[in-house]
Amino acid sequence: MSLKTLGQFIIERQADFPYAKGELSRLLRDIGIASKIVNREVNKAGLVDILGAQGTRNVHGENVAKLDIYANDQFIGALGSGGETSAIASEENDEIVPITTKVSKQAKYVVCVDPLDGSSNIDVNVSIGSIFAIYRRLDSDKPYIEADFLQPGTAQVAAGYVIYGSSTMLVYTTGHGVNGFTLDPSIGEFCLSHPDMKCPETGSIYSINEGNYSRFPDGVKKYIKHCQVDDDATGRPYASRYIGSLVADFHRNLLKGGIFIYPSTAKSPNGKLRLLYECNPLAFIIEQAGGKASDGQQRILDLVPTALHQRTPFFIGSTEMVNHAEELMGV
Ligand code: AHG
Ligand code: MN
Ligand code: MN
Repeated sequence: MSLKTLGQFIIERQADFPYAKGELSRLLRDIGIASKIVNREVNKAGLVDILGAQGTRNVHGENVAKLDIYANDQFIGALGSGGETSAIASEENDEIVPITTKVSKQAKYVVCVDPLDGSSNIDVNVSIGSIFAIYRRLDSDKPYIEADFLQPGTAQVAAGYVIYGSSTMLVYTTGHGVNGFTLDPSIGEFCLSHPDMKCPETGSIYSINEGNYSRFPDGVKKYIKHCQVDDDATGRPYASRYIGSLVADFHRNLLKGGIFIYPSTAKSPNGKLRLLYECNPLAFIIEQAGGKASDGQQRILDLVPTALHQRTPFFIGSTEMVNHAEELMGV
C-alpha cells in the first residue's frame, strides 16, 4: 500500500469546500509545518537548554515553560507567513495577535491555538500536544474583530490537535469525519494512518484528576463511584487513566473508548480548561468521531463564548459514558 501524505490528502479533500478556493487547505498545511518544527524541538528537549521554566507567567498565572513560548512563536510565524490567517487567539497571549502582512489583513480565517498543551509534562518526557480551531471571519471585507473569535464551536470550519507522543500524530476534522496522520520522521511527512476515526460508543476508561475529589460536584462524585463499582456485566470497575496532558488523555480515549472529565470545583467554578482553544476543537473532533462533549449540562459546541480565555467544565468521550455522567449531574 502506498503512503498518503497529509498534503496529498488535503488536496484530495478540497472538494469538501466548494467555496474555499484552497485557502483552508493552505492554512492546514501551515499548521502542519508549525507542528513539525515544534515536534523537532520537543524531541530534543532533553538535549538543549530549552527545558525548564521561562520565569514568566502567562495570562492565567501559570508558569510558562520555554517550549510554550517557542511553540507559540512557531504557530504565529507559520500562520502569519502562510497568508490565510488574519489574527490568532493563543493561550499564551492576553490579547488577539494580529497578522499584519498586507495579504493576511484580507484573510478569511482566524485561528485559536493552545500551542503546547500539557507543558508541565515536558520535563518528565511525557506526551504533550498542540490544539487548534479555525473559524471563518464574520465579514472578511472588514478588519478582524473580537466577535470573529467568539463564535460558538458549531461555527468551526476545522479543528485538530497534534500529539507529540511515542510517535507524533496530527488528527483533524473539517466536519467530514476525523482523520489521523502519523509523522514519518524518515521523510518528514505526516502520513495517513488512522482514516475515518471513530470513538467507541462506550469504553472502560475514566480520566479525571481524583486528587481534587473533595472539591467535585456531587454528580461527579457519583459518577466516579459508578466507575468503581464491581459489575461484570458492564465491565466495571473501569480503569482510571490520567496523564495530565489533555491531548494525550483525549487521544487515548478517542481510540479506546472512555471519558475524560475536568469538572467545576469548589475553588474553580468554571473548571480549568479553556473553551476556545482546548474544549471546542476537541468537542468538534469527538462529535465527528461519534462521541459527545458537554459541560455537564449542555453541549460544548453550543456555548456562546463571551471572552477569549474563558474556561468551562468539560466532559468528553464515548457517548454512553458522557450521557451517564450528565444524568448524574442532574441533566
Ligand atoms: P496547558 O499545559 O496548555 O496549560 O494545559 C494543561 C491542562 C491540560 O493539558 C490537562 O488536562 C490539565 O491541564 C491538567 O490539569 P491538572 O494538573 O489540574 O489535573
Ligand atoms: Mn492546554
Ligand atoms: Mn498550553
